[in-house]
Amino acid sequence: MCVVTEGSDPGHGRVMRAIRARRNVRAFSEESIDPSVLKEIVDAARHAPSSMNDQRWAFVVVTDPARLSAISKMGTWADHVGRAGAAVALIVPDAEDPSERESIAFDLGQAAQNLMLAAWEKGLGSCHATIEDGAAIRDLLGLPAGWTCDLVISLGYPADRSILSASPRTDGRKPLDEVLRLERW
Ligand SMILES: Cc1cc2nc3c(=O)[nH]c(=O)nc-3n(C[C@H](O)[C@H](O)[C@H](O)COP(=O)(O)O)c2cc1C
Repeated sequence: MCVVTEGSDPGHGRVMRAIRARRNVRAFSEESIDPSVLKEIVDAARHAPSSMNDQRWAFVVVTDPARLSAISKMGTWADHVGRAGAAVALIVPDAEDPSERESIAFDLGQAAQNLMLAAWEKGLGSCHATIEDGAAIRDLLGLPAGWTCDLVISLGYPADRSILSASPRTDGRKPLDEVLRLERW
């Protein structure tokens, strides 16, 4: 199902409409997600650009309700994972060097955005969950030494599907004038 061809902003193209309409969804229906859809969404993530094209990432798809429930307890604001149809754990290699850590995090953010926009196009809502118990998720997902998971993205068909094609929240982002400077600060 594609939800981004329609929109309330006729002046915008499909990509711009998806960027503006996508929002974090934390209430999901019971409908299960086809494995092929999950695969396509992860495929979108791996197409993200990365520094030197290093692609320092891996993705673990979780659909087992008991695992999702366990993950939902690993972060203060991770409860939505327990209500999701699936979750994608974003895995990165450990890095000692702060600039390397920053570079990996930047790349991962782009992969996450690809993943969430692809989910949106498929009619799925998504939400980040910051993982605070690194040891617990490493154990649950069987991560090899040297790999870490700090973020999980929950996925599911929204309980209220109208959210997929609603107008962007007017108060949702800082005004353009506040963040845009021309030529110099
Ligand atoms: C790095 C990062 C971590 C986040 N962690 C959580 C989280 O633990 N739980 C949660 O519910 N939302 C989390 N979010 C989602 C933000 O709260 C959300 O993107 C923001 O409120 C904007 O929401 P909107 O896109 O629906 O307007 C996180 C977002 C980012 C980028």
